[in-house]
Amino acid sequence: MRQPFLTSRLQGMGTTIFAEMSALAVRTGAINLGQGFPDVDGPAEVAEAAIAAIRGGHNQYPPGTGTTELRHAIAAHQRRFWGLAFDPDAEVLVTAGATEAITAALMALCEVGDEVVALEPTYDSYAAAAAMAGATLRGVTLEPPDFRLDVDALAARISDRTRLLLVNSPHNPTGTVLNDGELAAIAELCVERDLLAVTDEVYEHIVFDGEHRPLASYPGMADRTVTVSSAGKTFSFTGWKVGWACGSPALVAAVRTAKQFLTYVNGAPFQPAVAVGLGLHDGYFAGLRDDLRAKRDLLCKGLEAAGFGVYPPQATYFVTADIRPLVGEADADGLAFCRTLPERCGVVAVPNAVFYADPARGRHLVRFAFCKRIDVLEEAAGRLARAGAG
Ligand SMILES: Cc1ncc(COP(=O)(O)O)c(C=O)c1O
Repeated sequence: MRQPFLTSRLQGMGTTIFAEMSALAVRTGAINLGQGFPDVDGPAEVAEAAIAAIRGGHNQYPPGTGTTELRHAIAAHQRRFWGLAFDPDAEVLVTAGATEAITAALMALCEVGDEVVALEPTYDSYAAAAAMAGATLRGVTLEPPDFRLDVDALAARISDRTRLLLVNSPHNPTGTVLNDGELAAIAELCVERDLLAVTDEVYEHIVFDGEHRPLASYPGMADRTVTVSSAGKTFSFTGWKVGWACGSPALVAAVRTAKQFLTYVNGAPFQPAVAVGLGLHDGYFAGLRDDLRAKRDLLCKGLEAAGFGVYPPQATYFVTADIRPLVGEADADGLAFCRTLPERCGVVAVPNAVFYADPARGRHLVRFAFCKRIDVLEEAAGRLARAGAG
């Protein structure tokens, strides 16, 4: 049989490696710092709201745009934290996580042959989403040690075929939070070159250094930006897959058209629960950030003690580490390193190479997640140091 088009384009991408690493963690009993999901549940009142919704009969298809209650809660959240005004009826769409919002946005807004420019290393669903839209992903690389955006490189990456910029800030896996100058430059380019923007802001509440600002708040961007986020990271319920896309009525209608035939609707009982979460007091959001900051510091210290080169992230719950100080330049193969790390140390990480179009660029980098209990992180740091990770 001829290999189907998408299979041939998507094989070997990040998700495959994530699955391999998670299976390795299960097989070896290693601590899984590979895939990014917390090992404790989110707020009890949010979980209780979902249970109450199931018991209360919220179990059939919800409205295609999301429940009224959740759309209002999303609009209120956008205003409360970021000063963005969205009409909950025409400018907010509930999706199956940020992943679906991004995929639906690319499918809705790109023509076959278009190019999508994103910050590289790129979250693993982006190239796949672009491929499914018939478009091609072009990366502009954030280079170590500080992983800042080179605005000239971004401008050079934009071609006549570029349709939109897919902007992930706070950025996974580097932890970069785009600053005011970088965001203003992106906005200027979008206006000048008449581009759309899709933003992935799933780590909006997990920022330790710097300040998150939505691209949509910059001059000229309100009508050309689809702002995407989700409940997964903010409320530690990554398995619920409730996300959203906000933007002008025309853009949101386009995304809704694609979403309608991808999943139609999603997560009826989780929608009222996420609405409860979005309305939690400021202390909840500050607590989430402060807890993860302490965990970042703990893991970064542990990785340094074990001999890695460490790039402490400004945000998110991932840290990128350089294996060259441990294994030397010639043997710095992150994939091979991650494949043997569980046997050697009882810890799982993922190779950053999967986040680059040219895997050689991220060959020496590996990513650890620190959204785990303190005792788990201490044990992982101890194992890495004792076993001599290299
Ligand atoms: C940058 C980024 N975007 C999107 C997602 C997925 O979000 P969701 O689970 O809401 O689809 C993740 C999850 O790791 C992520 O890191």
